[in-house]
Amino acid sequence: MSSVQPILLVHGGAGNVPDCNVQNKLDGVRQAAKEGYRILKETGSVLDSVVAAVKVMEDLEGFNAGRGSVLTIDGTIEMEAQIIEGKNMNAGCVTLLSHIQYPVELARLVMEKTPHTFLGGEAAEEFAKKMGVPFVTQDFLKTKAAEKALAEFKKKGALNPTLTEIGGVGTVGCVAIDSNGHTASATSTGGINGKYRGRIGDTPLLGCGGYADDTIGTVSTTGHGESIMRYNLAQRILNAMTHGKNPQEAVDQETAAMTARVGKDAGAIVLSNKGEVGVGFTSYRMSWAYQVGDELHYGIDKGQKLVDKIS
Ligand code: GLY
Repeated sequence: MSSVQPILLVHGGAGNVPDCNVQNKLDGVRQAAKEGYRILKETGSVLDSVVAAVKVMEDLEGFNAGRGSVLTIDGTIEMEAQIIEGKNMNAGCVTLLSHIQYPVELARLVMEKTPHTFLGGEAAEEFAKKMGVPFVTQDFLKTKAAEKALAEFKKKGALNPTLTEIGGVGTVGCVAIDSNGHTASATSTGGINGKYRGRIGDTPLLGCGGYADDTIGTVSTTGHGESIMRYNLAQRILNAMTHGKNPQEAVDQETAAMTARVGKDAGAIVLSNKGEVGVGFTSYRMSWAYQVGDELHYGIDKGQKLVDKIS
């Protein structure tokens, strides 16, 4: 395969990000993109790089993953994540985690250290203990913002079964490609605010929350999980690319089609196996950033494309 320029692209979640959170979101995705790209250049590993970028956002309170995750209707935390690499399509998925500091790291361990692809709940946390990954309390993971969002959700009428919300603070994800055209994707979330306990969303589901296949490219999605999983959003975007769309056309077409067909909003970040970029969303906002060479590209509003030179 001919040489590709390495790129690492992140998103910080689709949703109604209020003006007061815009700078925080942009700072977070820029930090994650730079750290992931640094690791990509240092190790040459797309898997190391997507994990590093997602861990930055799992640590930041302003993102709906790890610390800062939204709460279930009972006020508890249930996080999920997936990782997939595009050479052999090895993947790891985890769900219903309540005490894991970095769900994306556990997803990678499921991929690399078990004969399985998907582990959930208590058994996944037992496996995590054996692997020695960082355990934390729910109090550590819970933020004032998440508690406030749940209180507001309850006030709005949580008993209405049709009322669902995007987390507000946003699922996180990352896609990367190395110079050999090898791709990977990682996505991590606390789910949706006020969800039932035991609810599983799109994020840990392959072909929905993300995907990677070096013969086409790689995707990470964000938005309303029930809609994304019913529509198989990540897989549909890659399918549009196999039918001649470039990543930008594919993400625009399929996020719009999902919203038209099953309702609610979504966004996605995409890289083709040639290193072409696609970023799109039907929600009001979605923060994103990517580094390629010494350029950092980023934005949050529709059509916004800012670029900084990294010194
Ligand atoms: N996309 C995140 C969720 O709905 O769980």
